[in-house]
Amino acid sequence: MRIGVLTSGGDCPGLNAVIRSVVHRAVVDHGDEVIGFRDGWKGLLECDYLKLDLDAVGGILARGGTILGSSRVQPSHLRDGVERAKGHVEELGLDAIIPIGGEGTLKAARLMSDSGLPVVGVPKTIDNDIAVTDVTFGFDTAVGVATEALDRLKTTAESHQRVLVVEVMGRHTGWIALHSGMAAGAHAIVVPERPFDIEELTRRVGERFEAGKRFAIVVAAEGAKPRPGTMEFDEGGKDIYGHERFAGIARQLSVELEGRLGKEARPVILGHVQRGGTPTAYDRVLATRFGWHAVEAVHRGEFGQMTALRGTDIVMVPLAEAVETLKTVPDERYEEAETVL
Ligand code: F6P
Repeated sequence: MRIGVLTSGGDCPGLNAVIRSVVHRAVVDHGDEVIGFRDGWKGLLECDYLKLDLDAVGGILARGGTILGSSRVQPSHLRDGVERAKGHVEELGLDAIIPIGGEGTLKAARLMSDSGLPVVGVPKTIDNDIAVTDVTFGFDTAVGVATEALDRLKTTAESHQRVLVVEVMGRHTGWIALHSGMAAGAHAIVVPERPFDIEELTRRVGERFEAGKRFAIVVAAEGAKPRPGTMEFDEGGKDIYGHERFAGIARQLSVELEGRLGKEARPVILGHVQRGGTPTAYDRVLATRFGWHAVEAVHRGEFGQMTALRGTDIVMVPLAEAVETLKTVPDERYEEAETVL
């Protein structure tokens, strides 16, 4: 068989582990040929690719990012994008395409599959918000990075008797905020799923200082918002791909808390550091398993599906289901965290 692989959307620790696993399983075990498109769907649209053999994937397991490069370009962005991509798949004699990506990429994968292309998707996102899989690789790494940062920030916050508002990634969901906040023992967590009440947040942080504590750490997912009308708030806008460009929850919240509490507050934005660097062992294993199962699905002819983790098993789920809804933080998970803040 001849298989094409691509990584699309925001990068994520573990992408290289998937690529490596696909090549090992396909080339070594099945005698297939694998090619990798450069910079996501863009590579397929422009027929820009490289041959992936064992040498090409040597030593990449622990490397962050993606050796193939990534972009947010999708076939649907161009008028003739889908037709052009289909033409290149035919021209290159490909029996399957394995796109590795998040919400946008999986939507594009579904579109390509509906147009008749043999597609098997692999989900990735540090945000962990893809509903049909228990976990996505990259999340564990991102939570680890954020937790380490929070641990470090506690000591400097305490020295200066400050409130630190730490912004973590999570456009639509607060999984990284919830897990890193719980792991590091933050004092408040705000997530997009539950618009926060600024009065209540101020009271919670203020009570810590009244009780003699010298600092407070607030973890804020970048997409968190106040309840409408409760505080002046700039939500920001959208980028050229329709993705949110937030005006900055950490900056706005630290100004607000400083004003209300009369305590020094500072914003800290962790940003892309959460996406960079080497994946954790957990993410490497999950990514490797996803790659292995994607190749197996190709050989079984199970197209229009994607790999997913259910419990400890890897299963295949229809791409159509994968992109229906996002996995948001349920109320109960938030309440569990609140008890120990
Ligand atoms: O991968 C998803 C994500 O991590 C979001 O949480 C974040 O908003 C976004 O990527 C930022 O990506 P970029 O700045 O690369 O567009």
